[in-house]
Amino acid sequence: MKKRLSVRDIRKKKIIEHSQEPIVSLVCYTAQMARLINNQVDIILVGDSLGMTIYGHENTLSVTLDMMINHGAAVVRSTDKPHIVVDMPFGSYEESPEVAFRSASKIMRETGAQSVKLEGGEEFAETIYFLNQRGIPVMGHIGLMPQRIQTLGGFFTQGKTEKESIKLMNDAKSISQAGAFSMVIEAIPEEVATDITKKIDVPTIGIGAGRNCDGQILVSHDILNLFGAFTPKFVKKYGNVDENIVKAVKDYSQEVKNKKFPTPDNIFTIKK
Ligand code: KIV
Repeated sequence: MKKRLSVRDIRKKKIIEHSQEPIVSLVCYTAQMARLINNQVDIILVGDSLGMTIYGHENTLSVTLDMMINHGAAVVRSTDKPHIVVDMPFGSYEESPEVAFRSASKIMRETGAQSVKLEGGEEFAETIYFLNQRGIPVMGHIGLMPQRIQTLGGFFTQGKTEKESIKLMNDAKSISQAGAFSMVIEAIPEEVATDITKKIDVPTIGIGAGRNCDGQILVSHDILNLFGAFTPKFVKKYGNVDENIVKAVKDYSQEVKNKKFPTPDNIFTIKK
């Protein structure tokens, strides 16, 4: 059996020398996709964006702990190399460190994942410390925090003013000091992400945060063009799976209508 990347291995990937490779991460939610990407990535995040990409919700707020656990367990079962992080959904950790521990320990126990991720800056430092001290590694998430969509009023770039960028730096420092083993930085100017990456000693994983983070993460559904609702500027599409699906289903439909399917290769006959 292969050894999965541990939080220690991820921490060691903090880029100190130019020759080091950035951390490759993808968001993925299903057994099938996880099997396909097992050998290509360092980290798989089972993200709560599944509420939108898989379940068709407008945002991530209706995602439950059980949804995260079912998808997290499927991804863990289907991989043996990457470090698996499972997102803590909205409402499962904000109330207190104790509530967060109850939710996070359930995720760890029932999925077999190696760590959890939660959205928030300085205000969650105490929670991150509490979890970390009790055996639960936490990946932070700052910048655009989709679980705050209703207070933000939309999915907007963060940290564009001096005041906001100072707040982001404080958030990054405070959650790394609290014990976060790495952090996602979403949708902020490249200059701000670069500065944060230089000043904290755990890896930054950028999504829409420019070229100088210690790693990059994108959503598998976005890079394969499997999620048509909208495409953020920071996404690069590396495939066109939705077109292939539509074409395959059109061909199937035509062949059924024209009685070209099933062929003799697809049928059973009685024994002579
Ligand atoms: O849920 C998710 O897909 C995420 C990524 C945007 C990092 O948190």
